[in-house]
Amino acid sequence: MQKNINNQYKKLLEQADKAKENAYSPYSGFKVGATILTKDGNTIDGCNVENAAYGSTMCAERTAIYKAVSMGYKPGDFQAISIASSGDNFSPCGACRQVISEFGTDIDLVYKWNDKIVVEKLKTLLPYSFSLNEE
Ligand code: THU
Repeated sequence: MQKNINNQYKKLLEQADKAKENAYSPYSGFKVGATILTKDGNTIDGCNVENAAYGSTMCAERTAIYKAVSMGYKPGDFQAISIASSGDNFSPCGACRQVISEFGTDIDLVYKWNDKIVVEKLKTLLPYSFSLNEE
């Protein structure tokens, strides 16, 4: 069920939109930015980083998650992740959904679809997700 879009989430999406300008995407020309809102009120940005060996490319969402983990954040610490791209409609790829699920299936994902801001929980976008942790 989509939640009401609050001002905090609007700002979070604007921050991801700015973060996308740091994208390194000379091969696809497609820019993506992601911003994590942590439960302790911090925000952490990521962008996509491409590589000449295409498979070595890293998505914006995972860049942000791995950055947060390297700062000391753990599963359960994230409230929301906003994602903005240079395309019209965007929602996170399957690999990013799986990686986000490791850190909490209740995390809100915030992104634009058909010019509307969508807020959906990870578990809605990735039901029956694979996990080695019992929940
Ligand atoms: N990309 C992301 O950053 N996040 C996604 O969820 C899907 C795709 C990036 C990877 C690549 O640099 C570009 O978008 C085109 O696939």
